Amino acid sequence: MASSAFLFSLCLLFMEVLALAKAQKPADQIGMLYKDCVGKGNYTTNSTYHANLNQLLTSIYTNTEINNGFYNFSYGEDADTVYSIALCRPDIRPDDCRSCIRNASDSLVRNCPNFVEAIGGLDNCMVRYANRSIFDRMEQGPYFWVYDVRFNVSDVVGFNQSRMTLLRRLSDQAAAGDSRYKYAWDQIAVDRSFRKIYALVQCTPDLSASACRDCLYNASGLIPQCCDARPGGRVIYPSCNFRYEIDRFYDPSTNSIPPPPDPTLTNSIPPPPASTSQGMRTT
Ligand SMILES: *[C@@H]1O[C@H](CO)[C@@H](O)[C@H](O)[C@H]1NC(C)=O
Ligand SMILES: *[C@@H]1O[C@H](CO)[C@@H](O)[C@H](O)[C@H]1NC(C)=O
Ligand SMILES: *[C@@H]1O[C@H](CO)[C@@H](O)[C@H](O)[C@H]1NC(C)=O
Ligand SMILES: *[C@@H]1O[C@H](CO)[C@@H](O)[C@H](O)[C@H]1NC(C)=O
Ligand SMILES: *[C@@H]1O[C@H](CO)[C@@H](O)[C@H](O)[C@H]1NC(C)=O
Ligand SMILES: *[C@@H]1O[C@H](CO)[C@@H](O)[C@H](O)[C@H]1NC(C)=O
Ligand SMILES: *[C@@H]1O[C@H](CO)[C@@H](O)[C@H](O)[C@H]1NC(C)=O
Ligand SMILES: *[C@@H]1O[C@H](CO)[C@@H](O)[C@H](O)[C@H]1NC(C)=O
Repeated sequence: MASSAFLFSLCLLFMEVLALAKAQKPADQIGMLYKDCVGKGNYTTNSTYHANLNQLLTSIYTNTEINNGFYNFSYGEDADTVYSIALCRPDIRPDDCRSCIRNASDSLVRNCPNFVEAIGGLDNCMVRYANRSIFDRMEQGPYFWVYDVRFNVSDVVGFNQSRMTLLRRLSDQAAAGDSRYKYAWDQIAVDRSFRKIYALVQCTPDLSASACRDCLYNASGLIPQCCDARPGGRVIYPSCNFRYEIDRFYDPSTNSIPPPPDPTLTNSIPPPPASTSQGMRTT
């Protein structure tokens, strides 16, 4: 029944809000899961830049030709050029992706009035815009994290080992993706228990394989700060993000997109570059 679905989503909303109260960059408005109005300068209301920004964001969420959930557009001339990137979670349908981008864009422009540069997102998508080119650049800030506050896991060490093993493997796998898709999802058993951890990692596909891997490794280095004993968590960078939960939150049956590349199971996808001595980064 509709009312029980409503109750359920209210619970989810409450969880998100609780989690956000402790997030590093709390969204001060319910509606956006995270946002940052980047302090790089302001545009004037109704200026050419303002018009270009609105035009650009509209062209993203009305675009029905791109179906891989990654949008990389620019609009305008000279100093009034606006650059934007939008990225959806890989398992959502193209029309849900557009709806998410529309809501996130509207909310971002409303929440960051007159800021030339901003980044923000909802559950299923991220939107950024700036007056500088942001394509082909690995950026690790501003960053955000969100986590599940319902309880803490008891076996932190075992949980952490499984989580790190999974995130590293998925980071390598996502990095081996092509210029349209760089993501991977999978699950792993938690040591000495029947519990599982499910994770989804994703880079903007304009990144090189090594930039994608570096970005995800660096993001998982934030786990000690955000998520050690948390049964679920996310770290969101402008160029990459990951999420893990003890319940399967992604939809592996999605068929609007190809399955995630798994270099260990297929020969058609090139293996990730040999790993260097970089190892896990901690911050
Ligand atoms: C972006 O806008 C800010 C504020 O107007 C300005 O200071 C900066 O030079 C602009 N950057 C570029 C690359 O145009
Ligand atoms: C831009 O405007 C906001 C308020 O709208 C203000 O808080 C911020 O300091 C301004 N930034 C610059 C660089 O002028
Ligand atoms: C911007 O344009 C809108 C629509 O034309 C108008 O209603 C509004 O007053 C203008 N705002 C400013 C600050 O000029
Ligand atoms: C976008 O906002 C509309 C209106 O509030 C809502 O019905 C819709 O579910 C939202 N879509 C997403 C993906 O958030
Ligand atoms: C989980 O652990 C954190 C950090 O030690 C603590 O602040 C928090 O209160 C704990 N939460 C629960 C639900 O036990
Ligand atoms: C989790 O694993 C990482 C990487 O192996 C390590 O640096 C960190 O100290 C571990 N944290 C805990 C709580 O075991
Ligand atoms: C992103 O847009 C820039 C500028 O239009 C273009 O040069 C680049 O090829 C695009 N990259 C992707 C991955 O679409
Ligand atoms: C991770 O990224 C942050 C922010 O860019 C940077 O300060 C830090 O040095 C990086 N960590 C490593 C180990 O590269």
